[in-house]
Amino acid sequence: MRLIGAASTVFALVLTFVVSGFGQATTAHQAEDTQKDRDGRAIFRFDTFGDEQLWTDVLRMHEPIATVDPATALAVGLKVDVDALPPAIIAALRAGQVDLTSPAVTTELLRLNAVVGVKGAVNETGRLTSVGVTCALCHSTVDNSFAKGIGKRLDGWANLDLNVGAIVALSPALPDTLKAELRTWGPGKYDPRHHAFDGTNLIPLNTPSLPIVIPSIYGLKGVGFETYSADGPISYWNSYVGVGQMGGHGTFSDPRLGLSITQTPDLVTPKLAALLDYQLSLRVPDPPEGSYDKEAAARGKHVFRSEAGCATCHQSPNFTDVLSGPSRTVPFLHDPADVGTDPAYAARTATGKYRTTPLRGLWQHAPYFHDGSAPDLLAVVNHYNQLFALKLTAAQKADLVEYLKSL
Ligand code: HEC
Ligand code: HEC
Repeated sequence: MRLIGAASTVFALVLTFVVSGFGQATTAHQAEDTQKDRDGRAIFRFDTFGDEQLWTDVLRMHEPIATVDPATALAVGLKVDVDALPPAIIAALRAGQVDLTSPAVTTELLRLNAVVGVKGAVNETGRLTSVGVTCALCHSTVDNSFAKGIGKRLDGWANLDLNVGAIVALSPALPDTLKAELRTWGPGKYDPRHHAFDGTNLIPLNTPSLPIVIPSIYGLKGVGFETYSADGPISYWNSYVGVGQMGGHGTFSDPRLGLSITQTPDLVTPKLAALLDYQLSLRVPDPPEGSYDKEAAARGKHVFRSEAGCATCHQSPNFTDVLSGPSRTVPFLHDPADVGTDPAYAARTATGKYRTTPLRGLWQHAPYFHDGSAPDLLAVVNHYNQLFALKLTAAQKADLVEYLKSL
């Protein structure tokens, strides 16, 4: 009885789309995307760079995704863009008439291009025929304004609920040992040094995997070198990820990593300039009103600059010293031992060291450090207090935390 009810709800919904001129809505949507084709925001949100060659042709992710219900999809951290939903669906969701346990609804959401960072193609019979991913998968979330996991897009905010490992482990094409390893990654983490895709094969890079925290990517204007290890500027890294990790059809090479991937036509490189402009336009979100104590933060600012010595590395204006070396083309970096964090990840990067992370929007993106080893800001402060024998009092630590929450 329940099942029949559920099925007929989905049916009724699909019917509503057809009747309410849903066909026209899609056309309008597509027209808008084509028009903004060169716009960095559209690339960031919607461009797969042809990475269906990995997610569909190799990993066959469209097969398991077609069987995943929306409740499960939300549980592994996928987000739904409320602005992509037609009024009929919104009304049905509000009325509790959408069956979140029906995989058909997931496919419908993909057809509406409403799943943040995932692009699906659905044929006339309603079957999901391909999927690909975009930058927004990891680096956007939603404001939950409609429901948990459903709201307006927040581009540049790390999706710290996203369990990439658990999602990829659904692939029917991977061996069980690899699936088991992927499932250990957990939410909000990804290992971009574990493998690379060359257009045909997944090439192993490093083992075992060392998943790191997906960073928020707003507030990077003026920082100069990106990634925890400052392997290069933003476009270098965008190309690394777009080609080798997302599996886009393009060209990337870095002799430092012994990696060279060539695919023509290159669907990634020509888009890097627009993509860069968009990323640099993403501003740091203000801390929510009342989320920190202003007086304590003012005292904490003093501790940051004097007693705790944080500002020797976290220098104004971007709270990093990465550009403070003799040449602006060579990043100034720190040995892992200098900051007491795990050296193993750095050893797999092009520089072998860590960049002083530019501090921004800290209230938004716990956990901290590249490997998420500090669950909250007090843990960060305690880490340094011990490492540098700062002897901060409990009150100074608390003030410092309030200051960090204000950045
Ligand atoms: C599967 C998840 C995933 C996808 C998809 C992804 N990234 Fe990332 N991104 C990461 C991780 C993890 C890092 C951290 C890598 C490091 O620092 O070593 C990162 C780092 C970055 C950084 C550096 C941030 C900083 O603080 O320096 C930028 C910028 C960035 N990504 C932009 C992009 C763009 C643009 C795309 C699309 C072309 C993209 N990413 C796709 C996971 C992802
Ligand atoms: C010797 C240079 C140095 C000093 C001094 C220093 N930091 Fe850092 N900081 C770094 C580096 C390098 C990283 C990146 C480490 C990693 O991710 O493993 C970092 C990372 C951080 C992060 C994590 C940011 C994020 O988004 O993950 C916070 C927060 C932070 N530092 C705060 C502080 C505070 C507070 C102090 C003073 C008590 C301080 N730092 C002192 C170099 C320094």
